[in-house]
Amino acid sequence: MVQSCELGIHSVGVDVSAFNALIGNCKVTKYNLVDVQTEIARISKSLKVFLSNHKTLEFEDRLLKELNVFNNTYFPVPDYKYKVKRKEVNEKIYGEEKEKEFLPIYNRLVEEYKIKLRQDKEDSFLDKWYTQHIREEIQFVFNEIRKIKTVSTKKIISVILSRTIRSCRATTHADLATLLEPITATYYCGKHGKICKPLFSILKWWESYSKDTIKRLIYYDKIRKDTFHTCLTGDSRSVDLIEGLNKINPKFADLISKQKIKGIFSSPPYVGLIDYHEQHAYAYDLFGFERKDELEIGPLFKGQGKEAKQSYIQGLSDVLNNAKKYLVDDYDIVLVANDKYNMYPTIAENAGMQIVDQYKRPVLNRTEKDKGAYSEIIFHLKSK
Ligand SMILES: C[S@@+](CC[C@H](N)C(=O)[O-])C[C@H]1O[C@@H](n2cnc3c(N)ncnc32)[C@H](O)[C@@H]1O
Repeated sequence: MVQSCELGIHSVGVDVSAFNALIGNCKVTKYNLVDVQTEIARISKSLKVFLSNHKTLEFEDRLLKELNVFNNTYFPVPDYKYKVKRKEVNEKIYGEEKEKEFLPIYNRLVEEYKIKLRQDKEDSFLDKWYTQHIREEIQFVFNEIRKIKTVSTKKIISVILSRTIRSCRATTHADLATLLEPITATYYCGKHGKICKPLFSILKWWESYSKDTIKRLIYYDKIRKDTFHTCLTGDSRSVDLIEGLNKINPKFADLISKQKIKGIFSSPPYVGLIDYHEQHAYAYDLFGFERKDELEIGPLFKGQGKEAKQSYIQGLSDVLNNAKKYLVDDYDIVLVANDKYNMYPTIAENAGMQIVDQYKRPVLNRTEKDKGAYSEIIFHLKSK
């Protein structure tokens, strides 16, 4: 949708995850940018007032100073990493030893500032994966967002908050994409080669993502065209585009009925890799969107076994067959997939389509830097 809006091509998206659909829609919404900026400034100001009543920032400042001294002594840049590379230091043993050595300093500060680390309950994602103070700040900003009157402003600022809280989960830098256990103490970080700390306030990320979002919105506003773009929340195997769009933008629904759609660009889920709802569990908890995990195609929790693969092939074939009724005869479908099980020839066959071209696309920038790079294939499908 983002690229088609830039090119002046109408587009409709479908995603079964309500939160992902919200993100998609936020990217192509036309905003009152003055209103967005005014609301962000208001919320940032009140967050700072809220923080000034707590000692968290001072605590974090002291902790950072202590860490700085410790890391400069035991993990000098760049010598330490060179030594690890040349195997002159056993990173695991040395890291663990220094982690233990720093803990008393950390505990002393926690005690001194009376920082409450864990929340009293662990029932929801927000209870489990956030330190007590971060949780309070999230709630504070959330309540401020509720006061916003303009719906589009409210939605984009909610996305800024969700991006902020994604960065503030109590996890190590190495496990950002696959959460293991909540951490509430300083730890040896293999990614940065030093002792790192969990977060104690959302302020830094909130400000940095607010700034970044405004910059992007201003830029995009200049290059976008005035075409229709809507992402429907629904299951691609059965979604009725006309019915869905009729409720939101009847003119667009009419256009699709009369003119039909020329093509599809999609990056479908791949078998057994990601649980798309669970990935944004914090947002579902905070905003209270309805979860439809059971409708995801190829979720991680179903694995990559024979049955999972069969159900994936069936799912993708159903999506393409459902999509066909909205397409012109000479349609083009472009799908990005990491097809290591060679399932796409069968999927195309099941949908009465043929693969007319394939392109390789390297995937280099991953959240988890230590996970290897791999290639994806871009399939170009047409009617048989
Ligand atoms: C690889 S992501 C691509 C997201 C987005 N289209 C993009 O390109 O940024 C795959 C998406 O498929 C969605 N999905 C999974 N099962 C679905 C289904 N049955 N119907 C519609 N969307 C589904 C997931 O929620 C996820 O957002």
